[in-house]
Amino acid sequence: MSEVRGSWGSKLGFILAASGSAIGLGNIVFFSSNAYKYGGGAFYVPYLAALFLIGIPVMILELGTGRLGRRSMPNAMFQLVGKRGELAGWFGAFNATLITMYYVAILGWILGMWVGSLGNLWQASAIENFGFASGELSNSMSYFFNMISSADPMIYVTLIWVANILIIIRGAKSIEAVVKVFVPLMWVMMIVLIIRGITLPGGLQGIFFLFTPDFSVMGDVGVWKGAFSQMFFTLSLGFGIMMAYASYLPRKNDDVLSATTISLLNCSFEYIAGLAIFSLLFAFAIAPKASSLSMIFFVVPEGIAAVPILAGTFGFLFFTLLLMAGLTSSVSLVEAVVLSMIDKFGIPRVKVLVGIFCVGLVGSLMFVLPIVVDPGLNNNGTLGFSLVDLFDHWAFGYGLLLCGLLEIIILGWLYDFDKLLDFINRDARVQLGAKFKFLVRYILPVVIISILTLSVIEEFQGGLYGNAMETGGFKGLHVIAFLGWIFFSVGGAILFTALKRQPDAEELS
Ligand code: TRP
Repeated sequence: MSEVRGSWGSKLGFILAASGSAIGLGNIVFFSSNAYKYGGGAFYVPYLAALFLIGIPVMILELGTGRLGRRSMPNAMFQLVGKRGELAGWFGAFNATLITMYYVAILGWILGMWVGSLGNLWQASAIENFGFASGELSNSMSYFFNMISSADPMIYVTLIWVANILIIIRGAKSIEAVVKVFVPLMWVMMIVLIIRGITLPGGLQGIFFLFTPDFSVMGDVGVWKGAFSQMFFTLSLGFGIMMAYASYLPRKNDDVLSATTISLLNCSFEYIAGLAIFSLLFAFAIAPKASSLSMIFFVVPEGIAAVPILAGTFGFLFFTLLLMAGLTSSVSLVEAVVLSMIDKFGIPRVKVLVGIFCVGLVGSLMFVLPIVVDPGLNNNGTLGFSLVDLFDHWAFGYGLLLCGLLEIIILGWLYDFDKLLDFINRDARVQLGAKFKFLVRYILPVVIISILTLSVIEEFQGGLYGNAMETGGFKGLHVIAFLGWIFFSVGGAILFTALKRQPDAEELS
């Protein structure tokens, strides 16, 4: 039997939940490493283009569709265009499940660092043997390495899954209760960190780094792909998360205003986080590494350990912030998948949660098994580290853009786009007209298809991704990861689309 669909207690609750979803590891970790990798100061140009060209428009569409269909993605898409749409929706849901698995694994490691930050991670001795050049491991690095090669992360990952389930146990209601506390706190912590960063001698240099344009990198397709995928990820677009959250909205809502607010809040948080991290790194002349995971686990901790006073407090604050930001994001991924199942099969929430918990936990545990493949920690350290990299390359690098593209084509071409526009315009102060329609129907598909095509070409030129990755005795891991991704996301989508719909579930609203 179906339950009555929940709803947000207030508009503010919705905005907080959506920005809790948007603000996550992507803002603090992936942004900084992408900005560094893709030309530092020049990155803001493609980034802003991505925000206005794709970020806000796709967010408007997701909110509008969620509110119109009052369903999660596979079911809303089914309502709009039938089975084809549903297939795309489940493809998104399965990609989201895969991303959740390693997102939670990363959060497990972060919980490990948080536990460490209560202990001697930041003690003075850490500062003495600080730096990569000596070939020695600094305190934070050796702590991290010992932690990930032990079985402890398996406990941490379990705890993170339990936390996720508890937060969404009552759907919108329990999510709202948590984000009301976490999201404002995250801003406070971030502001404390940025103030500390820029008041360090040399810290301001980091700010110059993020804003000094180097236009020579802009001819590189990689930079554009980086900015566009970062935008999808950081705004939680493409997998129907925002659609699921919008399905809990009251009948009337200004989606244009909401989408703009959520996107701008997220992106300003992201830039502030980037400034905090770069000021810290520049103050201590630490080279930011382009690999995102090393950034949170060794590079930033190096910087924090070198802060002259209260290093321990700042370190604790940093990992608390990461935990909160990551949790409010992972719950949105889990919620979107859970809601997709409730909407289609009419299974009670608690039962779906038990299922998701078991499947998700097993998946996440695979990423944190204490199997060391690279003892020097030059690249990946453990098997799980390599796996995160490989799966991220497909599920995030391709899956996200692919889902976004399918979504745009379905809404813009297969469905009567004017109907959706009229629906959004009815409650919106700023009206969307012919220009918006042109953007969604022509420009966006062309941009995304070009990015995807060029990436695939690069893929063949460079050999399948991960080919040369150090994976110890594990040969062919890159092929397994690629096939695993296809099998899971495409196979899962076909299976779930084929399964019988519970007619009762349709009556939810
Ligand atoms: N936006 C989150 C971040 O920046 C991650 C995230 C949450 C996400 N939900 C998502 C990414 C859905 C893609 C799709 O960390």
